[in-house]
Amino acid sequence: MKLNLAQSLREEILTILAQCRQSTLNVLARIDLVQFYQQAHPDFSPVGWHLGHIAFTEAYWILEYLAGLPPIFPEYKSLFAADGLPKSQRQYLPAPEIIQNYLNIVRSKVIAYLEIAPLESQERLWRWLIQHESQHGETIALILHLWGDRSTTSTTEFNPVTPAMVTIPAGEIYLGSNRIEAQDNERPVTLVHLDSYLLDQYPVTCKEYKIFIEAGGYQNPQWWSQGGWDWLQANSITQPLYWDHLPSDYPVYGVSWYEAQAYAQFAGKRLPTEAEWEKAASWDLVKNKKYDYPWGDIPPTCENCNYNLNLGGISPVNAYPLGRSPVGCYDMLGNVWEWTASSFSGYPGFESYPYRGYSQAYFDGKHRVLKGGSWATRSWALRTSFRNWYYPEVRQILAGFRCAQ
Ligand code: AVJ
Ligand code: FE
Repeated sequence: MKLNLAQSLREEILTILAQCRQSTLNVLARIDLVQFYQQAHPDFSPVGWHLGHIAFTEAYWILEYLAGLPPIFPEYKSLFAADGLPKSQRQYLPAPEIIQNYLNIVRSKVIAYLEIAPLESQERLWRWLIQHESQHGETIALILHLWGDRSTTSTTEFNPVTPAMVTIPAGEIYLGSNRIEAQDNERPVTLVHLDSYLLDQYPVTCKEYKIFIEAGGYQNPQWWSQGGWDWLQANSITQPLYWDHLPSDYPVYGVSWYEAQAYAQFAGKRLPTEAEWEKAASWDLVKNKKYDYPWGDIPPTCENCNYNLNLGGISPVNAYPLGRSPVGCYDMLGNVWEWTASSFSGYPGFESYPYRGYSQAYFDGKHRVLKGGSWATRSWALRTSFRNWYYPEVRQILAGFRCAQ
């Protein structure tokens, strides 16, 4: 029995490594050389760098750290380690075929090692690695979106959205997750008490956000935080990064935290804390129980949310009735990331894994937490406890928001 369990875990890891890699290689197959070598934006490395970094990270953690093998391409360390070159100097890359080879060579050695690896003690790291590739896969997708790769989205007609708020009663809930997949920043599971609050049933739509733009929201300091107003003056921004021709019931996205916060003020609301968001997404008030997903504990499918590049872009906020959470919120997972009011920090008892620079280095009071995943998030990084984090001025990350009150 024990042997069979170990064997099925080995097979599962092998399968998800291959599935995750297939998505990565699909991207490699459709990019051009400009997209491969050049930065789409100073905050993001070239796509070719992300691909090399995926291979480097896998070689480092599996072949060097777990298997104890010497580095296979030592010359790649300074180029592809996250703490190596600054982003602006990451365009001097080996050719796409060489990077593809690098990915393949590392992978074949990893699979050979997987045959004999003591997985019982290593499972967490293997699962971490799959999430690492997933996250870089999403970054590659948002970079291609920045480059102008904006495939059309769903054409199905939905009933017009009527914005509404859901009342969530006061009470204690658990934040985070202790599952083997959970990242260091989701652990340990933490009990919090929340007062009663209201939360938007849907992410803020373009139709709603347009009212803010047309009321002169980008010209009126009244709605903005000091940091937000300073940022706005320095950048002369007048609309979201992704705005032209978006149909009205699609979520607004391509907004910074500052813009989300200003809209919420304008609407007489505020951004939810991450705990408020997570309760609305995952807490069953009747059973006093938390789910991994809004609809329960079964992993996502294309029936209940827009993720994994399945549509190639955003969808109307009411396109997934099956994605409803127990309290009655929709579109909590997939479609667009949602900014929260919370700064990124560790839960009480936090322990870095697998290295300090993964999460802890960002507990600086400046990064804000985003929840929920986007249309480009792979299944391995999609769950209600997952936390993403960026500086408040970043607007390239497929993020929108919903409001609380
Ligand atoms: C959590 C998406 C902000 O891309 O910088 C990838 C994830 N950490 N490799 C990032 C990550 C290390 C991280 N984000
Ligand atoms: Fe990384």
